[in-house]
Amino acid sequence: MNHPKIRWGIMGCGRIARKFASDLQWVKDAELAGVASRSLQKAREFSKDFPARYIHGSYEELAANSEIDVIYVATPHSHHYENTLLCLRHNKAVLCEKPFAINSRQAQKMIQVARRKKLFLMEAVWTKFLPHYQKLQALLKQNKIGDIKSVLINFGFRLRPDAPARLLDPALGGGTLLDIGIYNVFMALSILGKPDKIEASIAASDKGIDEQCAVQFVYKNGAMAQLFSSFTTHLPIEAYINGTKGNLKLTSRFYEPSCRIELYREPGEEAQAIPVKKEKGFGYQYEARHVNECLKKGLMESPVMTHQDTLLLMKTLDTIRKTAGIAYAAD
Ligand SMILES: NC(=O)c1ccc[n+]([C@@H]2O[C@H](COP(=O)([O-])OP(=O)(O)OC[C@H]3O[C@@H](n4cnc5c(N)ncnc54)[C@H](OP(=O)(O)O)[C@@H]3O)[C@@H](O)[C@H]2O)c1
Repeated sequence: MNHPKIRWGIMGCGRIARKFASDLQWVKDAELAGVASRSLQKAREFSKDFPARYIHGSYEELAANSEIDVIYVATPHSHHYENTLLCLRHNKAVLCEKPFAINSRQAQKMIQVARRKKLFLMEAVWTKFLPHYQKLQALLKQNKIGDIKSVLINFGFRLRPDAPARLLDPALGGGTLLDIGIYNVFMALSILGKPDKIEASIAASDKGIDEQCAVQFVYKNGAMAQLFSSFTTHLPIEAYINGTKGNLKLTSRFYEPSCRIELYREPGEEAQAIPVKKEKGFGYQYEARHVNECLKKGLMESPVMTHQDTLLLMKTLDTIRKTAGIAYAAD
């Protein structure tokens, strides 16, 4: 990279794109250089709030823009595969939103193309870069709560009438598992590793996707995880990590920087609050800084969110879907 700042492009001017664009202000060596929408007018509207030198009315134009170093793909899940391949075809590095793809077959292909073309590609699992998640990893490494026997996570909210249509539309990869349940799965995998057995079932919407999804991971060493996601009721968006010497609670929302970590030794005892550093912004600046560092080092893969991590996550989601009966056209 020959420029003092990494030149970012954003593909798709939706809700998460706005938060990410806002957080780029906290990344000192990043510039929002280009934005692209399927509608030029929408891209212009977006750039009123988040100014960029290049405003494109098509994704193809952004991908082909030689003044862009890396593209953040912020489109619905169903489009991550084709949008990422479009960027790679034009030799762009890519940070692709979660879920990386609809299934592991697509994910494998995306990774294969990036490796063949020696381009950086990472799934935007932003939680992995947040200070509280890193603190949690440190606590587990220090064996603070002994052997971990269970991970219990709920993530649910009642969809409001103005919720994005993509959440319930099978054509756009709708359903709780790929949208919010993925955080539960990611967290359980990162704490307990690949499960030996997966059980799962859903409450299906009239269009056949999961309005609620219950997942159980079983491990030969006796550990278990119970993961529940819902679009029909509010649930505490908390994670409990239970060990032989104590318990850790990640308060709502466990995947965001607003989360606090509480350590419990014995039932009835007051929780010990674990201090975590906070900064301004939504929290997407951490992953963006990491991508910048990787690009400056000429890496093709993040050492933190590796391709292997993405494939394990995607394959686990595939198994859950197969077990519970969630299918998409791309399967
Ligand atoms: N990391 C996180 O915290 C987080 C949070 C929320 C969402 N996400 C992920 O980010 C992705 C986008 O979510 P979002 O909440 O930003 O969704 P959204 O508000 O619906 O925006 C998605 C954007 O994708 C573009 N798009 C392209 N093809 C489309 C199609 N056929 N139908 C609808 N939109 C289409 C649209 O942009 P244009 O009209 O400008 O082309 C749209 O604004 C999802 O994969 C989601 O899982 C991540």
